[in-house]
Amino acid sequence: MIKLEEYQRAIEQSNIVSKTDTNGIITFVNDEFCRISGYSKEELIGANHNIVRHPDVPKEIFENLWGKLHAKKTYVATVKNRAKNGSTFYVNTTIIPMLDENGEIQEFIAIRHDVTKTIELTEKLRAKEEELQNLNATLEQRVKEQTFQLWSLNQTLENRVAEEVEKNREKDRVLFQQSRLASMGEMIGNIAHQWRQPLSELGIILYKIKKIMSKNNDDDPLFLENYNAAKTVIKKMSDTIDDFRDFFNPHRPKEIFFIEDVLHEAMVMMLGTLKKNEIAVSIDVIENVKVKGYLNEFSQVLINLFNNSKDAFNANVIKQKRVNLKIQAIDKNYAMITYQDNAGGIPEDIIDKIFEPYFTTKHASIGTGIGLYMSRMIVQNSMKGTIEAKNCNGGVCFFIKIPMYIEE
Ligand SMILES: Nc1ncnc2c1ncn2[C@@H]1O[C@H](COP(=O)(O)OP(=O)(O)O)[C@@H](O)[C@H]1O
Ligand SMILES: [Mg+2]
Repeated sequence: MIKLEEYQRAIEQSNIVSKTDTNGIITFVNDEFCRISGYSKEELIGANHNIVRHPDVPKEIFENLWGKLHAKKTYVATVKNRAKNGSTFYVNTTIIPMLDENGEIQEFIAIRHDVTKTIELTEKLRAKEEELQNLNATLEQRVKEQTFQLWSLNQTLENRVAEEVEKNREKDRVLFQQSRLASMGEMIGNIAHQWRQPLSELGIILYKIKKIMSKNNDDDPLFLENYNAAKTVIKKMSDTIDDFRDFFNPHRPKEIFFIEDVLHEAMVMMLGTLKKNEIAVSIDVIENVKVKGYLNEFSQVLINLFNNSKDAFNANVIKQKRVNLKIQAIDKNYAMITYQDNAGGIPEDIIDKIFEPYFTTKHASIGTGIGLYMSRMIVQNSMKGTIEAKNCNGGVCFFIKIPMYIEE
C-alpha cells in the first residue's frame, strides 16, 4: 500500500500547492508556489492569500469563490495572479475545503498548475485574430473606397469625354456657320459687283427716256412721278447692295435714326408688292423712338417680314390681307416694333425653327430659308436687339425689341 505522504509528494512535485486557514491566511506553500510567485516561504506563511491577487481581477470573482468555499464546495477556475515582481501568471486552480470530523471547514487546500504560457499564447492568438479581423475590415473598406474612386474617376472621365465631344461639335457648328457666312458674304459681294453696272445703266436709260420725253414736250406729271419713283428704287437697290456687302464688315460706322423712318423706308421698297397683292398696312406710332444702327440694313428685316406675309397670304388664300405695325417705347429704354399679319400663322411644331438658317416650308423656287435667319442676325448683331415670333389672332406676331438711343 502506497503511503499518504507519497501521494502528497507526487502532487506537490507536479503542482503548485498552498493551504490557508478559514480566514485565508497561508499556512503552507510548496516550492513550486514560491518559484512561480517569487515570494519566499517566510514571506508567504502567515500572509493573506490575496498577496498574489491581481488587481485586474474583479472582486465579484472572489465573492463567488468564497461563497462556494463556505458552502463547502470545490472551486475550480483559471485565475490571474501577480508575482512579487509584478509579472502576471495564470494558474488553473482547484480549491478544496477540508472538513473535520464534525463536517466543519478546517482549512483550504489549493492545487494549481501553471497555464501562463497557454493563456499568453491564447491571448496572442486572439490579438492576432483581432488584428487580422481589423485588417480584413479595413481591407474591405479600402477596396470599397478604391472601387468608388475608380468608379468616380470613370464617371468624370466619361463626362469629360462627353464634354469634349460636345465642345468639338459646337466648334464644328461655329466653323460651319462661319464658313457659311463667309461664303454668303462672298456671294453677296459678287452680286453687288454684278449688279452695280446694270443698275447705273438703268439710271442712264431712265435719264435718256426723260430727255426724249421733254424733247417731245411731253410733260405729263404722271410720267415725272413714275420717273422719280423708278429713280428712288434704283438708288435704294444700290444702297441695299452696299449694305449687304457691308454687313460682313464689322468696322462700318453706325447711324442714329427714328424707327418710323425705317418703316417708311421698307414701305417705299415694298409699295409695288403691297399694292399688287392688295395688302393693307397700318402703322401706329405710339412713341417714335430713336435707335442706333444701320437703317438700310434694318429695313431689310421689315422687307423680309412683308415678303413672308405676302407668301403666307397667297398660300392660305386670305381675302382681307392686313399687316398692322406698332412702334412704342417699353421698359424705359427699349423700342418695340410689333408686326402682325392675319395670314394664318405658323404651325406650333415649327415655330421654334423659323429663325434657323435654310429652314423653309416653301417650294425651293420661292423659299431660301435665310430671310428670318438674316433678319435675326441684323437685329441681334447690328441693332443689339431681339426678334421673337408668336402666333396671335389668326396670324403671326413678330416682336422686335431694340435698345433706345439715349443722347448724352
Ligand atoms: N408671316 C408668316 N406666316 C406664316 N409663316 C411664316 C411667316 N413668316 C415666316 N414663316 C415661316 O417661316 C419659314 C422661314 O421663313 P424665312 O426664313 O423667311 O424663309 P423663306 O421665306 O425662304 O421660307 C417660312 O418658310 C414659313 O414657313
Ligand atoms: Mg422669307
